[in-house]
Amino acid sequence: MLDQIPFNRPFIAGKELFYMANAVVEGHLAGRGAYARRCEAWLRENFAAPHAMLTHTCTAALEMAALLADVGAGDEVILPSFTFVSTANAFALRGASLRFVDIRPDTLNLDERLVERAITPRTRAIVPVHYAGVACAMDELVAIAAAHRLLVIEDAAQGVGATYRGRHLGTLGHLGCYSFHETKNLISGEGGALLVNDPALVERAEIVYEKGTNRTRFLAGETDRYVWVGLGSSYAPSELVAAFLYAQLEAVDQITRERRAIHDCYRQAFAPYAARGLVRVPETPAGCQHNAHMFYLILPTAAARDRLIASLREVGIQAVFHFVPLHTSPMAARLGCGGGSLPVTEDLSARLVRLPCYYGMTPREQDRVIAAVMAALAAAPCRERVPAEA
Ligand SMILES: Cc1ncc(COP(=O)(O)O)c(C=O)c1O
Repeated sequence: MLDQIPFNRPFIAGKELFYMANAVVEGHLAGRGAYARRCEAWLRENFAAPHAMLTHTCTAALEMAALLADVGAGDEVILPSFTFVSTANAFALRGASLRFVDIRPDTLNLDERLVERAITPRTRAIVPVHYAGVACAMDELVAIAAAHRLLVIEDAAQGVGATYRGRHLGTLGHLGCYSFHETKNLISGEGGALLVNDPALVERAEIVYEKGTNRTRFLAGETDRYVWVGLGSSYAPSELVAAFLYAQLEAVDQITRERRAIHDCYRQAFAPYAARGLVRVPETPAGCQHNAHMFYLILPTAAARDRLIASLREVGIQAVFHFVPLHTSPMAARLGCGGGSLPVTEDLSARLVRLPCYYGMTPREQDRVIAAVMAALAAAPCRERVPAEA
């Protein structure tokens, strides 16, 4: 029987276990220890992030961002429906209303041309999601936000290491949120970071992070005790997680190089199929450098996509769909932000399949995936073609 090829495989890139053991020996395992400080300094220095705070997930970073945005009942937040639930939950938890906007056909990112018409006097923030580590049109989105005095909160869960006009995703809005979940490029099991790019938000971010207290000022010797001064929660990961993550940050070049090689190999293999309109491969607009987070194919029809997933499963290859649009979900209906028509989101999410892509994937495994996709496409030819622009 053939070995299973998973969609993702968590990995160790270098010194993870050594650093974890070292954290134990050093005797500080709670949050904000030496490894957390090293990770945060690394993000500041290597990504030019003004202020970085490790969190236990990207979900937590988004929830911090929603608290910092100070949104509540009566406020509106603009976001894509084609995203992970955490993007929406973070703001719904604060009682804000969600305004889902359609995506661009080329990158599957929030369509900046549709954002302005979704703005109302109650809009407080725009939340672009950099799908597959390819940047949203940040110049346009930041300009729209500035004109309407809105916050930009980047969901860069998938965008760690990717850039837009030479700047790292997550550093372009007022706030940026990263994920180090085991399915991401750099991992720590669960993990995340909040980048606070607007200096005006740093002091409150420290309070939110320190469970609503002014402990940061206390530790800096600026006050003789710390007290409850605002809303907050517990967001810092343990030193064990930070130690693991630090080794991954150190190995970012090697990890990205390997993922890019996998991405390029898929792209080359499927280029003739894309040229014939049988599939579509990911596109990266000028000025964006992707991080090879994900390789997906878009099939001509939803039925063809489902057939491909099923055929791959039969030969032990796990390929997956992504995302079920949030505006079609039961929860969106309950919140009153469901329904409506987001045609590009509905169309592309039904036709997209993600192929296995992980650090450590062997050439043999990748050849097997490519051969299985080709065999499935040949066995069940689809009469339709993928439209050229979409
Ligand atoms: C776009 C997006 N936002 C947020 C998240 C949540 O990340 P985490 O699992 O680190 O909370 C994910 C995770 O897949 C994601 O893809």
